[in-house]
This record gives sequence, C-alpha cells and structure tokens, in this order.
Amino acid sequence: MKPYIAPSVLSADFANLERDVLMLNQSEADYIHVDIMDGVFVPNISFGIPVTEAIARHATKPLDVHLMIVNPEKYIEAFQKAGAAIISVHYEACTHLHRTIQQIHAAGCKAGVAINPHTPVQLLEDVIEDIDLVCMMSVNPGFGGQKFIENTYKKVKQLKEIITDSGSRALIEIDGGVNGENARPLLDAGADVLVAGNYVFKSADPIYTIAELKRV
Ligand code: DX5
Ligand code: ZN
Repeated sequence: MKPYIAPSVLSADFANLERDVLMLNQSEADYIHVDIMDGVFVPNISFGIPVTEAIARHATKPLDVHLMIVNPEKYIEAFQKAGAAIISVHYEACTHLHRTIQQIHAAGCKAGVAINPHTPVQLLEDVIEDIDLVCMMSVNPGFGGQKFIENTYKKVKQLKEIITDSGSRALIEIDGGVNGENARPLLDAGADVLVAGNYVFKSADPIYTIAELKRV
C-alpha cells in the first residue's frame, strides 16, 4: 500500500503561504500537516488559529493539525472551526486524554494522539481503539529540520502490534526528520503516514519530492 504523505507547512515560506498551499494542492500530498507550537509545551512558537484559517481557505487537502500546546482541550473547537480535519493532541499535555479524544470526535474531527520520543507506545493501549491516528514523534518536537531518531523503528513495530492485536484502525504517522532514506524502512516497520517538512520544502522540486516519497 502506498503511504499517505503529509507535508508540514512549518517549513513553507510564510510570506508566500498561499503559493505553497496551492503547490501542495497540485501535488500528491494526502494531507497538509499544520504544526501549532505555543512556546510552553515546546521551546518554539509557530503560528495559531488565524494562520490555520488562512491555510484552510486555500487548501483542497484535509488539514492534519498537530497541537504542540499545553491545555489543548481549550482550543479543539477553535481549530475545528479553523478547518482542521484531524486534530492530534500530545499524550504528555493531557491529564484527561480520554475525555479530550471524545471532545475532538464530538467536534467532528478525527482524533490523533502524539507521543514524544521518550514516551513508550504501551501507554496508548487503553485509548488505541478510540483514536484514528498516532502521531509518533521521531524528533523532539519544536523545530523542523532535525535529525531522525533511530529508536523510532522499534517503537513503530511495537505500536503496530498493539494496533493489530486490539483491532484498532488507527494509522501510524511518523513526524520528524523523514527523508528519502528512512521512508522505506519506516513503512516496512508499519508506518502509514509520513510527515515531511524540510525534506519537501527545501528540495529543488517539492512536487517531485512528494511524488518520490509516495513511491519509495
Ligand atoms: C516538529 C514538527 C514536525 C516538523 C517536521 O516539532 O512537529 O511536524 O515540522 O519537520 P521535518 O520534516 O523538517 O523534521
Ligand atoms: Zn508535526
């Protein structure tokens, strides 16, 4: 099966966001990955609701919104209204994760849970049947263009087993440092969705690079 590709607009040219979103519309991208950073949960600030709305206004692909923020439950409805199709919250940022997952579904979005590189996949066992996606961080969240953490392969295999055993239909999304070299081994380990920021946007021909990732 071909992977789903989710280019991250974190690496887009923010002064030419419309141009870059229109480029993604023309490409084989399946989702547009939108990284929201609050400067508290992660040591960086990206952009928020108005920019997400602006992306949605031009996008023809579903927005996959990754909330790297504390208290994400306060902003679920706002991001749904801004145009999110999928909303992922961090395991590490949710005291009442099960409730927040229900809240995302009640808002009409698909629900994802993101986990940091140090968070064991086994901690998702009791919610795996309730979610649509696991966003597995393969770098420490906060910045684009970081080096892929090799321990991710092991975690993908373990998570795949948990998903298969539970009968969950959750997709495994890999986020951080994805490139033309690690894409194939990640898919072989069980990944379904590849996020790519730098690798797509810093390439000479992003449309070609997306097509290439789709066929690794
Ligand atoms: C990292 C973000 C990622 C990032 C991926 O905090 O969640 O989505 O933009 O970018 P690359 O592919 O450049 O690592
Ligand atoms: Zn992300």
